[in-house]
Amino acid sequence: MDIAPFKLERFFVPYEFSARYLLGSSDCETLAIRDLLAYEPDAAEQFLDLRLGYTESQGAPDLRAEIAGLYETIAPEQVLVFAGAEEAIFTFMNAALRAGDHIIVHAPGYQSLYEVARANGCDVSLWTAREEDGWSLDLDWLRDNLRPTTRAVAVNCPHNPTGYLMDAATQRALADLLAERGILLFSDEVYRGLEHDPADQLPAACDLFEGAVSLGVMSKTYGLAGLRIGWLATRDRALFERLVAFKDYTTICNSGPSEFLSTLALRHRDAIVARNLDIIRRNLDTLDAFFAAHADRFDWQRPRAGSTAFPRVRGEASAEAFCIDLVERQGVMLLPSTCFFYDDRHFRLGYGRANLPEALAQFELYLQSRMPR
Ligand SMILES: Cc1ncc(COP(=O)(O)O)c(C=O)c1O
Repeated sequence: MDIAPFKLERFFVPYEFSARYLLGSSDCETLAIRDLLAYEPDAAEQFLDLRLGYTESQGAPDLRAEIAGLYETIAPEQVLVFAGAEEAIFTFMNAALRAGDHIIVHAPGYQSLYEVARANGCDVSLWTAREEDGWSLDLDWLRDNLRPTTRAVAVNCPHNPTGYLMDAATQRALADLLAERGILLFSDEVYRGLEHDPADQLPAACDLFEGAVSLGVMSKTYGLAGLRIGWLATRDRALFERLVAFKDYTTICNSGPSEFLSTLALRHRDAIVARNLDIIRRNLDTLDAFFAAHADRFDWQRPRAGSTAFPRVRGEASAEAFCIDLVERQGVMLLPSTCFFYDDRHFRLGYGRANLPEALAQFELYLQSRMPR
């Protein structure tokens, strides 16, 4: 397989573990193992007694039961657990698609959602969001671009990097269109649960029709990326069997300690998500004030969901050069839009971390030093 470098990951490499402030990360504030174990009185003892043999390939039954509880129509047998969302994407793109198939993918977005298919010889069309319309997706465009060979459409809502959330009527129309044509919907829902107003939460795609696949993960909404636990949920039995068979060639089964801790975290998901949403709402208020004070330098649209936004930077020749200068001089990392193959005028800003106010204070110092008023 000849696959292009993952641009965002390559950009992270020199800075992710050395920059003082990660202001471009997409995950929520993490927890220590100790914090998770404290949720239940006997959890620490059980964790210490866990034996470290191979685990069930499909995922631990109690973990799959917790995951199924996130959906309306999904049974534990319709959940397949992976090493993070990334393995789940890789598996879907290999198991569901063949060379020559056409796939339409929401853009700008997470590169593996289109790069894996492209590397496997699929024909990829990008369904590019309209910035002027709050990063919305145009269903008419999709309808006009479906082909007889279109096998799947991949969308990501809440969206990384823009924070866009589709409205329920558009989601329903999308599901109906694809169900009618026998096209799979790959729905990357790794930020689901981070709707800033919980009333905005969309149904999970896997609950809408049989040919839909929902992708979830512990990394973003729950802030537990180091567990490397993600999953796919679908009622499409034939597809499910192909996913299961492909996984025998990637990780075979999951890390037992991670499954244990993920199951525990999901049992206490309401508390974990409430804490993360609290951080997000406070950070968004801070960001509103910051961007109001710098309205001449940035265009800011407050997102409705997720933990990332995609502001536009004004008066700079290159967002990438701006981000590199910021991290090298002030230790604050943002991700330029070039990492998403989308112009050189935007940057991704992450607001799920508790130290955002400190990071923003450093950003402010940088702006003062660089662009005196
Ligand atoms: C939209 C989207 N999908 C999938 C992933 C991959 O998640 P993980 O790193 O947990 O595998 C990410 C991570 O940034 C993401 O933003």
